[in-house]
Amino acid sequence: MERTLSIIKPDAVAKGVIGKILDRFESNGLKIAATRKMQLSRADAEAFYAVHSERSFFGDLVDFMISGPVVVSVLEGENAIAKNRQLMGATNPKEAEAGTIRADFAENIDANAVHGSDSAENAAVEIAFFFSGREIA
Ligand code: CMP
Repeated sequence: MERTLSIIKPDAVAKGVIGKILDRFESNGLKIAATRKMQLSRADAEAFYAVHSERSFFGDLVDFMISGPVVVSVLEGENAIAKNRQLMGATNPKEAEAGTIRADFAENIDANAVHGSDSAENAAVEIAFFFSGREIA
């Protein structure tokens, strides 16, 4: 049993596909252990993506992530981290396999519909960033 953090990004929320994306998770064996729609502050986005702070795309990434509300969720299941990444598809939607969330709902590498933790270590940090233990069930 594993947990991972998912973010449905502002582009997908604006398109009205929150339900369709959450259905991809539930239909593929991932339980939604916690979920919340929220508006990130600039400080939230900068802290969450601090690992990318030296990258050229950091400013655009932060601007995009605060451009509208997001949906943060804890997904739970066997191999949840890898399964979520498989369901999301490649970071760049142009390289994402057909049938993946990014192939179906994303526009470009900035507006790429979803974020998912990339390792068990980062999943623990990212989940704790958004949720307390009593919010996860
Ligand atoms: P995400 O999984 O949320 O993690 C960091 C985000 O930065 C990534 O998805 C992309 O939306 C965005 N990004 C923009 N340019 C790049 C790039 N060249 N490489 C990786 N991520 C990028």
